[in-house]
Amino acid sequence: MIKITTIVENTATKARFKAEHGLSMLVERDGETVLFDTGQTDALIHNAKLLGIDLSKIDKVVLSHGHYDHAGGLKYLLEIAKPKIYAHPEIFRKRYSKLSDDGNLRYIGIEDREFYEQLGAEFVLSSEPVEVADGIYTTGFEKMVTDFEEVDKNFVYYKGDKLFKDYVDDDMSLVIDTNRGLLVLFGCAHRGIINIMLDAQKKFSKEVFGFLGGTHLGVAGELQQQRTIEELKLMDLSIMGPSHCTGMLMTAKLYCEFKEAVVFNNVGTITLIA
Ligand SMILES: [Fe+2]
Ligand SMILES: [Fe+2]
Repeated sequence: MIKITTIVENTATKARFKAEHGLSMLVERDGETVLFDTGQTDALIHNAKLLGIDLSKIDKVVLSHGHYDHAGGLKYLLEIAKPKIYAHPEIFRKRYSKLSDDGNLRYIGIEDREFYEQLGAEFVLSSEPVEVADGIYTTGFEKMVTDFEEVDKNFVYYKGDKLFKDYVDDDMSLVIDTNRGLLVLFGCAHRGIINIMLDAQKKFSKEVFGFLGGTHLGVAGELQQQRTIEELKLMDLSIMGPSHCTGMLMTAKLYCEFKEAVVFNNVGTITLIA
């Protein structure tokens, strides 16, 4: 049995949980545990307590990419646990968004590697797929193959004093190999959910049967949203748990198209896969 518990998400519909712009999901399988992302703040700690999850036992964390809303909770986790942290080598980019209230670039990256290492973090950085637990893999670098998905145009990063467009090359998803096929967990899916799932199918030579997590479709253009829905129809997934950067409107659109396959994946949602 595979159990996935959403600990941090933008919405919470049960009493006393904290909601925030961020994401964190816990994967449990046969006594092994992998935490995928850490949310933005100590909401991770707060919500885990309410869910009866003992975070001090976490020994494996996968970070989907180096944005504050996915790795911000890591410093709080490191106060109580010393896990191995799997991520892509480009996760520490000094990255910014052009979208801000004051017209200046807004910092959306994370702390330096040294900051986390001083707190006891042990990083395992790879751009290749890594098996972090039995049948649970990172995707490694996600190759972009579709012609309708693009990385958010507002992202840039500094290398030295030079500014570059940020294609979020460090974006990685988590792939769980099951009897039903592959279940893919997205952080923000900055490189496009169809790209990521096609890439996973190629890498692991198995069909994807479902996904959970952030899709970034909420801020994508109309064309990308529509084409994604068309592709999802062809993929005929049995579980779709859009979260976080999907937004309410896009989640509603997905529900209208795919009905009972859609799970409203927010804080406290538990997904069981036999
Ligand atoms: Fe992100
Ligand atoms: Fe995000």
